[in-house]
Amino acid sequence: MSASRILVASNRGPVSFEVEDGELVARRGAGGMVAALAPAVQETGGLWVAAAMGEGDRRRASESPDGRLEVAIDDAKHLLRLLPFDDATYDRFYNEVSNRLLWFLHHYLWDLPREPGLGEDARTAWDAYRAVNRSFAEALAEEAGGADAEALVQDYHLSLVPAMVRELAPAVRTAHFHHVPFAAADYLRLLPREMREELLTGLLGADLLGFHTERWAENFLGACRLLEGADVLWRRRVVKWQGRLVRVGVYPIAIDAAQLRAMVASPEVRRRRRALDRWRGDRKLLLRVDRVELSKNILRGFHSYEAFLRGRPEWRGRVVFLALLQPSRRAVAEYRHYSEECVGEAERINEELGTPEWTPVEVRMNHDYDEVLAAYGIYDALIVNPVFDGMNLVAKEGPLLNRAGGALILSRTAGAHAELGRAAIGVDPVDVAGTAEAIAEALEMSEEERTARAAVLRRAAAARTPLQWAGRQLRDLERVTAR
Ligand code: G6P
Repeated sequence: MSASRILVASNRGPVSFEVEDGELVARRGAGGMVAALAPAVQETGGLWVAAAMGEGDRRRASESPDGRLEVAIDDAKHLLRLLPFDDATYDRFYNEVSNRLLWFLHHYLWDLPREPGLGEDARTAWDAYRAVNRSFAEALAEEAGGADAEALVQDYHLSLVPAMVRELAPAVRTAHFHHVPFAAADYLRLLPREMREELLTGLLGADLLGFHTERWAENFLGACRLLEGADVLWRRRVVKWQGRLVRVGVYPIAIDAAQLRAMVASPEVRRRRRALDRWRGDRKLLLRVDRVELSKNILRGFHSYEAFLRGRPEWRGRVVFLALLQPSRRAVAEYRHYSEECVGEAERINEELGTPEWTPVEVRMNHDYDEVLAAYGIYDALIVNPVFDGMNLVAKEGPLLNRAGGALILSRTAGAHAELGRAAIGVDPVDVAGTAEAIAEALEMSEEERTARAAVLRRAAAARTPLQWAGRQLRDLERVTAR
């Protein structure tokens, strides 16, 4: 582990505070990123900078004059600094630019004949994005205090931070990690030129840029060709920019297998598993677990299942599709509509194909994580068919915890496909007929093949640890900056 202080910056912090019955309750963030980076911050006496996102965060931040607080994550104490923003600025930064403009861009979600139409509002929102990024950069520079420090900046919310840190604190070594796909050059070209250039030069302020897969790294390198003065050295995965070398690396994020295995052993998860088993009876279980998110391709998943049931009527009554969905980003209108459409399509399928004894699809919103862990254990097939996805952790968690030799149906456009594709049933995300075939293949696969594939998937899902993900980046950052 690095000897210098490690500072992490991410929009959503490792811990969030919620107000429950008037009291502040701390919740640890899920996912590999927190598991990977929190120990590095703690071991080096570093600090994590994040936005005060909700009321609870803001209340907790206001208890200390500079927003710095000590919080416990996994029984260890960590320093956190929560940055407060006014509502309008934060809304533009988070909802308008991060969740709408950049998320749609990097996941190719625009309905191009109509959307987007970037007017003056988009410019105002971009100014807010820049202002929030600047606050993060200032906080990092201040925390580094001219001393030896490494800044690990996370995700598309903070794309401009690396160049700002370089300007404010040139001695700080900076890595930026993009957790979502990176749009290919032609699509990126749709962004107004000044935004596109600011985005690329913002990122190129880093010493090291990380992506989950080669494909996203290559897209980034390709996009740099749009930038005058940037020299892309493809084979070395390096960009020469303003007299420096910016290294681009591939670091697939890992799940915390040990922690997940411990969690499924809890009495609560076991109880849920028994309840789910009773509910599905002797029917096969097709599962999906997703946030209600436009890139997740939930609608086409339902349409593929419908096509499967229509094409293979012998399966009617013998399979149930459980969709465990988590509402997300309700502040963005497209998400609210999409959520209604998903529920509406499931209901239509149930009306058209269901019988008094059999409901083909069950959508459960607002379920808890124990139910997800329980369902992972018993599915016969898991469908993960995003349009595009940076990685997709469901594709790793499911196979890790499944005990039924379950098959994995996986989009070839998900980052996870690079690691799991050889044992998964690959699908192309808009190919409804092909995905219907994949569902049939998953459910009709011989016992022997399912078991063999499941074993490969399980090993691949646990092949790396979150600590290795962070460690490799830190090693590379040291190597790049030692030159
Ligand atoms: C997904 C993406 C992450 C991203 C996060 C933001 O999980 O994979 O890259 O940081 O969404 O979610 P939020 O709820 O904070 O908007």
